Amino acid sequence: MKVVHTIAEIRTAVGTASREGKTVGLVPTMGYFHEGHLSLMRQAKADNDLVVVSLFVNPTQFGPNEDFRNYPRDLERDAAMAESVGVDLIFNPSPEEMYPEGYSTYVSVEKLTEGLCGASRPGHFKGVTTVCLKLFNIVQADRAYFGRKDYQQFKVIERMVKDLDLPLEIVGMPIVREVDGLAMSSRNSYLSAAERSSALVLSRSLAHAQELLAGGVVNGEELQRKVEAFIGKEPLVQVEYASVVDAESLEPLADISSKAVLALAVRIGKTRLLDNALLEIPAQ
Ligand code: PAJ
Repeated sequence: MKVVHTIAEIRTAVGTASREGKTVGLVPTMGYFHEGHLSLMRQAKADNDLVVVSLFVNPTQFGPNEDFRNYPRDLERDAAMAESVGVDLIFNPSPEEMYPEGYSTYVSVEKLTEGLCGASRPGHFKGVTTVCLKLFNIVQADRAYFGRKDYQQFKVIERMVKDLDLPLEIVGMPIVREVDGLAMSSRNSYLSAAERSSALVLSRSLAHAQELLAGGVVNGEELQRKVEAFIGKEPLVQVEYASVVDAESLEPLADISSKAVLALAVRIGKTRLLDNALLEIPAQ
């Protein structure tokens, strides 16, 4: 496995492989790997001849008071983990390589980015779509892999690829969890022991919602209120949102009759965590 830092180097490496007829899979990441990231890399390895992982803590998707500076970074550890699952290339550019002086072009997806995380993180998705479009153009992969843990991000990227006729397939991957149910996240490393145990309320509230739904709570707002109350019982946890939305449009759902997602964002101390689940509508 090779670690490269410049756009020229990654273009040369991928170009050589493509000319040999090899298919290319890209896994965009911000590093500090866990099993969630590795599951994307393993799938990319199974589907493609060459696997490229981008590792870039993207400054444009962080707000001024967010954790860009403190975001966990450990290239050596990440490189060893990526190599262990068969990754061929890590692309680890500097912020200046991606956004040189004078940089002024951004791409944004409308509508899908307005609610959920878009409401509390203005400009976040514009940073995500811009960096992903740049990565897609740089790497020219056949497929790119995204986790459903960041469900809104996955839908926004799918939309951008469709709308801009980008010649690659977006593959969505299931949420990987710790044995006790906590969705894996690089940000879990911020949690104290007490916060870590409070964080279990996320996955528990998703299970609770499924039970409520099975028990006949099919009104989106009612389910939302009940889930918020359930999370609210956990003293260290502040709910940012607990929203029942249509799985495609991400619009709030009054009646849970079509494909619905319960999306959660909470704050525990200084840490912001996400989780979500597809709601299974009980058989009539
Ligand atoms: P990052 O948070 O590093 O996540 C990289 C990819 O791993 C994303 O597609 C994310 O959804 C996926 N992932 C994270 N935790 C997961 C889990 N528990 N199970 C399954 N997949 C998981 O998301 C980003 O980076 C950035 O926004 C990025 C897309 C790289 C753009 O900068």
